[in-house]
Amino acid sequence: ATKEQLLEKIRPETVCIYVETPINPTMKLVDLQMVANVAKEAGIPVVVDNTFCSPYLQTPLSLGCDIVVHSATKYICGHGDVIAGIAVGKKEFIDLVSMTTQKDIGGVISPFDAWLLLRGLKTLPI
Ligand SMILES: Cc1ncc(COP(=O)(O)O)c(C=O)c1O
Repeated sequence: ATKEQLLEKIRPETVCIYVETPINPTMKLVDLQMVANVAKEAGIPVVVDNTFCSPYLQTPLSLGCDIVVHSATKYICGHGDVIAGIAVGKKEFIDLVSMTTQKDIGGVISPFDAWLLLRGLKTLPI
């Protein structure tokens, strides 16, 4: 989408822009810097699903995006033996998620699964 097409989609009730890039399964790419600029103009945050590049190849926060999510099930785990997710962002936002959604819904990773992810991270660059 172009900047103009994206701006057209933003309505008064829009609370964020949620993008995935590369998009699974088409592998189409989204210009994250352009999306971050549009979001800033609109005064809303950008959430990026960064699963397919992994944090090794793409760092959306450095491109102006606000929140990054990963399916850690894939490259971050790397061994196919954990189902997990990761959210990254400013401390205030992560604290809010921890004290509301995570506390209320109970989506807390087990220590063993967290250890398995740390094991996977060691070989992520490879
Ligand atoms: C880009 C992307 N994000 C998130 C998910 C969801 O991952 P999980 O299986 O860890 O819930 C998938 C799964 O295919 C995915 O491809």
